[in-house]
Amino acid sequence: MAEEVSVLISEEDVQKRIRELGEQISRDYEGKTVHIIGVLKGACYFMCDLARHITVPVTFDFMSVSSYGDDTKSSGIVKIVKDLDEPLTGKDVLVVEDIIDSGRTLSHLMELLKGRKPATLKLATLLDKPDRRVTEVNVDYTGFEIEDVFVVGFGLDYAQRYRNLPYIGVLHFTD
Ligand code: IMP
Ligand code: MG
Repeated sequence: MAEEVSVLISEEDVQKRIRELGEQISRDYEGKTVHIIGVLKGACYFMCDLARHITVPVTFDFMSVSSYGDDTKSSGIVKIVKDLDEPLTGKDVLVVEDIIDSGRTLSHLMELLKGRKPATLKLATLLDKPDRRVTEVNVDYTGFEIEDVFVVGFGLDYAQRYRNLPYIGVLHFTD
């Protein structure tokens, strides 16, 4: 099947919203250092662009997780594929994710990170599909709420492709 991508959120709109989020985070974390955890691989574009707009000190770490389950449904049992390099004790931690869908992965991950005793723990996501939520997740910063469509670009993939698109697109299958 052939694939086609139509623009959902333009590069300009994505960048404008990320700048706004960066400014809001800079105000909220005044006097602190934000320890940003990027969830690989999807969050890397959002994480780097967001960090550029944060004016308080920033440190980075990365984590890679996969959820057990079939291809279409995540089970919520998170397997750590790559763990963090540093402990979280006493840090002001901001987890950065590309998209929250069912919420299973993130709710499990946030519980796991809470157990590592950060001073504070917040969550930022570029995209949210609230209609798809199965497990409740407390999201502190949201870029855009979107309908239940399959999106690619700006870090999001279909079979590992399209991550490098500078905009958010909807993936269509054509014959
Ligand atoms: P969930 O919230 O546990 O269901 O899983 C969220 C994960 O599913 C995200 O981190 C993405 O990797 C993937 N995902 C969900 N919706 C999309 C989409 O529209 N495009 C690309 N990946 C998606
Ligand atoms: Mg992901």
